[in-house]
Amino acid sequence: MIFESHAHYDDSQFDGDREELLASLAAQGIGRVINIGSTFEACQKTLALTEQYDFLYGALGIHPSEASEMTEEIYHWILKKSRLPKTVAIGEIGLDYYWEKDEAARSSQRLWFCRQMELARETGLPAIIHSRDAAEDTLKLMQGIHANQIPGVIHCFSYSLDMANAFLDMGYYIGIGGVVTFHNAKKLKEVAANIPLGRILLETDCPYLSPEPNRGKRNSSLNLPYVAQEIARLRGIPTEKVIEATEENAKRLFQKVP
Ligand code: NI
Repeated sequence: MIFESHAHYDDSQFDGDREELLASLAAQGIGRVINIGSTFEACQKTLALTEQYDFLYGALGIHPSEASEMTEEIYHWILKKSRLPKTVAIGEIGLDYYWEKDEAARSSQRLWFCRQMELARETGLPAIIHSRDAAEDTLKLMQGIHANQIPGVIHCFSYSLDMANAFLDMGYYIGIGGVVTFHNAKKLKEVAANIPLGRILLETDCPYLSPEPNRGKRNSSLNLPYVAQEIARLRGIPTEKVIEATEENAKRLFQKVP
């Protein structure tokens, strides 16, 4: 079954039909789902969802765009809650220079990215990394803290094949979602066609980034077959093989998921 490695079902865009939608996933071939924390509130909602749904697991972390809300108190809360059986990763954490142009704020993003990477190291959980318009700094920072010792994924990968290889060399997985189906996504198509199949994870980042033919609409894990189909087409292999391999990859990375 499809392993959804990055969803935000806590988002208010799902308030109208969350239960119905989550209940429909299994029948559509979606197996396990990881719900990703981004703010403190989203982390709390993520934990509640993990209690409500057997197939849903949680990642806890503060998104770089929310770095200004991060405190020592929240940091220690995440540390404590990361010991729960259904907390399977730290994230999403990282750097986002697309939305943040201010140098002081970027420096705060780097600080909390580092600190939360140490959380991953300390808890033994994999890191889910968001990196946008910050390739060089992400790589430099990760090399500086010996991130090759911390397992993880670069989610919603948006850089070149060369950059993908640099992250692969550190042992990281590459998260691929709806963008790969966009006609103008040349770089990502090249990445999806050429990196080892054993290092790709399927993800939506829903409610954002719906694939073709649903581009622009609210996204959900139900759209993952379109992503798997496009990766399969690019590689010239059956879609089923992409689904199987990415599920195995996710289980290898997220070891607390049974
Ligand atoms: Ni996300």
